[in-house]
Amino acid sequence: MEEKKVRVRVPGTSANCGPGFDCLGVACTIYNELELTLLREKKLTITISGDGAENIPRDERNIVWRSIQKLLKKVGKDEEYQGAVINMLNGVPLSRGLGSSATAIVGGLKAANECLGSPLSKRELLQLATEIEGHPDNVAPAIFGGFTVSIVRSGRPECFSLLPKLPLKLVVVVPDFFLPTKTARAVLPAEVPMKDAVFNIGRAAMLTAALCKGNKDFLRSVFDDALHQPYRAKLIPGMYDVFRAARAAGALGASMSGAGPCLIAFTVENADKVGMEMCRVFADNGVDSEYHVLDIDEKGAVVI
Ligand code: HSE
Repeated sequence: MEEKKVRVRVPGTSANCGPGFDCLGVACTIYNELELTLLREKKLTITISGDGAENIPRDERNIVWRSIQKLLKKVGKDEEYQGAVINMLNGVPLSRGLGSSATAIVGGLKAANECLGSPLSKRELLQLATEIEGHPDNVAPAIFGGFTVSIVRSGRPECFSLLPKLPLKLVVVVPDFFLPTKTARAVLPAEVPMKDAVFNIGRAAMLTAALCKGNKDFLRSVFDDALHQPYRAKLIPGMYDVFRAARAAGALGASMSGAGPCLIAFTVENADKVGMEMCRVFADNGVDSEYHVLDIDEKGAVVI
């Protein structure tokens, strides 16, 4: 068989969306691209350009390559293909809470699947991606696009994707420091009070319902969280002040993007004003940052 070169584009993602810890996520119009050629010989060549390129390993530890190997093993092609040429072009900020590891995992899986003639469905890719990432809330929107709700049942992820019925803008503020997800998960408690669980369940359900209905008024009260943000606030100087600034500038609400340190505001108006105010308040707290006004990506990972 002739070696086939495949190029894919994968959106960055913002997980949790406030109350939906480890289950809600949204795909954003910021992208990583990846080009893959599978090789029969045991040779790995990885080139990386764009955000954080200098911090990503170019050898066997590379997460794109490890994802490709997992797929090859799953479909029984790991003996046939033992190497690859991988070219990565990263537009998604690395290790900032915009799903950069999910885009790498999904990019590797999507490209390898395409190279082999698509033996796996999107749902099977979700299964593999969730096994690698550990939770589905970033990989689900990276695969399916849109706003996703996902759960894991007996080790099997299930997800659905919806497109909100209102023109939601995502204002993502990127501070100039890294926060590894591992560090942000390490500060979380093993158990939470019942009242905090109830607080989040209602908001996560109402957030999803309000997006389906396009109800702006209900969206004003649903982006708060009691399960993870209170514990993580100490890792992001001025976080709650930045949330308040976003709302004062007209946003419906704001939250950590995934495990941070990016913060995200959800708005239907004044997107630039919201972004500028969030950066200003971050600066008041000694943090340099920049903002991006993004839309919801509707397609998820695609071959280009
Ligand atoms: N739901 C995850 C978390 C997203 O908040 O830790 C980051 O991978």
